Amino acid sequence: MSTQEKTPAVRIRGLDKTFVQSGFGSRRRVKALDSIDLDIGRGEIVALVGESGSGKSTLARCLARLESPDRGTMEVLGEDVLRTQRRRASREYRSEVQMVFQDPFGSLNPTQRIEHVLTRSLQLHGKAGDDLRSQLVDLVESVGLPAEVLGSFPHELSGGQRQRIAIARVLAVEPEVMLADEPTSMLDVSVRIGVLNLLARLRDERGIAILYVTHDLASARYLADRIIVMHRGTLVEGGESLALLDAPQHPYTQMLVGAVPDPAREAPFDPEERARYRAEIETWAGSPSERVLIDDESGHWVWKPKETAQDD
Ligand SMILES: Nc1ncnc2c1ncn2[C@@H]1O[C@H](COP(=O)(O)OP(=O)(O)OP(=O)(O)O)[C@@H](O)[C@H]1O
Ligand SMILES: [Mg+2]
Repeated sequence: MSTQEKTPAVRIRGLDKTFVQSGFGSRRRVKALDSIDLDIGRGEIVALVGESGSGKSTLARCLARLESPDRGTMEVLGEDVLRTQRRRASREYRSEVQMVFQDPFGSLNPTQRIEHVLTRSLQLHGKAGDDLRSQLVDLVESVGLPAEVLGSFPHELSGGQRQRIAIARVLAVEPEVMLADEPTSMLDVSVRIGVLNLLARLRDERGIAILYVTHDLASARYLADRIIVMHRGTLVEGGESLALLDAPQHPYTQMLVGAVPDPAREAPFDPEERARYRAEIETWAGSPSERVLIDDESGHWVWKPKETAQDD
């Protein structure tokens, strides 16, 4: 049905989340999510980038139903998640939305062989067939590992292998949406690219929609169809990856892009330049702002001060 095909995998509107942090006799309110609107198309990879503490994990965790937002709506495949999954996510919801975490060490039970881990995922989600053994072999081979790893314990595998098993576990469930929160940041540089390629293959071959959370703009550029930039709980700029990185509009995005090591640039990143960006970011953040479409074709938009909207 064509209307169904047009329903995005994920549709988030007006999502707010405030944390109250208590210190020594004081309480601080942190607005981790501030009026978040975000769509992820079916079979699309969206990278969510921003500095530490900008709210990326909070957004992914709300979508995974590990955290409850204060306000707003979230739809997965057109279904209102907050209404149907009031607290913790049900098993059916887990069949649609799966999360892969940063830490491939902590996410696997150390006392269980890989075979057991994957069998359990298949069984829990009703995907275990008559020929379980060949299903298991297919799973590990589809993440580029040999069948022998099925007999291993997690501690016998490398970090990169463990992260592949974490992804195989997601595959066992055949979800529509995968939330990958810094899935490669704890891995050696040499094996990161393999995990990124694996995510790209999942999108291409299985049409899984992926929210890829990262600090790393270079990997976002490599992997994602679209990049969304998050600053202090707000989405400030977004669009097709190459269009956005070629012409970043928001000073925060410009600062992030400027911080990526670039052999073509002669001088190393200049602290004064960085201070100028920081000052401009504060000016933008403190001004009445509006969402401006920069380019219709790439969907490139920016959240910018109203005053400067008619400048150029
Ligand atoms: N459970 C919590 N209780 C209190 N404050 C929290 C909690 N979780 C997150 N925060 C705060 O919310 C803000 C956003 O945190 P979040 O973990 O979403 O950032 P992030 O972008 O994922 O950062 P990083 O790149 O370091 O992972 C931070 O100020 C953080 O301290
Ligand atoms: Mg995080």
